[in-house]
Amino acid sequence: MKLSTLAVALVSLYMQASAAPTASDAPQPATVPNCGYPTVPFLRAWSNSMTDHFYTTNQTEMDAFLAKGYVAQGIAAYILPSDTPAPTAVPLFRLYSSISGDHYYTANATDRAATLNRGNYVSDGIAGYVYADQECGTVPLYRLLGDTDNFYTTDEEEVDDFRDQLGYEFFGVAAYVNSQ
Ligand SMILES: *[C@@H]1O[C@H](CO)[C@@H](O)[C@H](O)[C@H]1NC(C)=O
Ligand SMILES: *[C@@H]1O[C@H](CO)[C@@H](O)[C@H](O)[C@H]1NC(C)=O
Repeated sequence: MKLSTLAVALVSLYMQASAAPTASDAPQPATVPNCGYPTVPFLRAWSNSMTDHFYTTNQTEMDAFLAKGYVAQGIAAYILPSDTPAPTAVPLFRLYSSISGDHYYTANATDRAATLNRGNYVSDGIAGYVYADQECGTVPLYRLLGDTDNFYTTDEEEVDDFRDQLGYEFFGVAAYVNSQ
């Protein structure tokens, strides 16, 4: 490389560097404080034969589902345990349909009551506690429905894949949860 070419390259590098936005110019993400309440893993599993995604914070219960043929799919999110001290947390209700073999989770008490009222699902307790609004370092837990399978994920790529490739219908945000 000729010296003059090198000089031009260096000047151009310098100009690129000085044109780059500084940290204070760049748009800042909304800061959501992590409120520090202890969370537990919300474990996820899938049964091909039941066409069902199942979630629980209870490892013993998960082991029983794995023994029935569900396949472990890691940790969907971190949620608050039942003895949560978080004042703004709400229950994540769990419902079950033996007709379709589907586990359904909702943080919306009205939706829970309406779903029970329709008669296909029975109450299956409380899965844990979540937030109705985005606070305490939480991210959206999205809900999708494919045929009879209610599916929940925080992963937007997975949302796209399930919607675009597997034909699931997107139902928006079910709750806000911690991603770790
Ligand atoms: C966890 O699940 C097991 C098996 O279903 C159950 O016996 C136990 O009571 C559960 N533990 C809690 C803390 O809910
Ligand atoms: C809760 O569920 C009811 C019944 O499905 C619905 O009308 C309402 O908009 C829901 N509320 C929220 C906050 O999503």
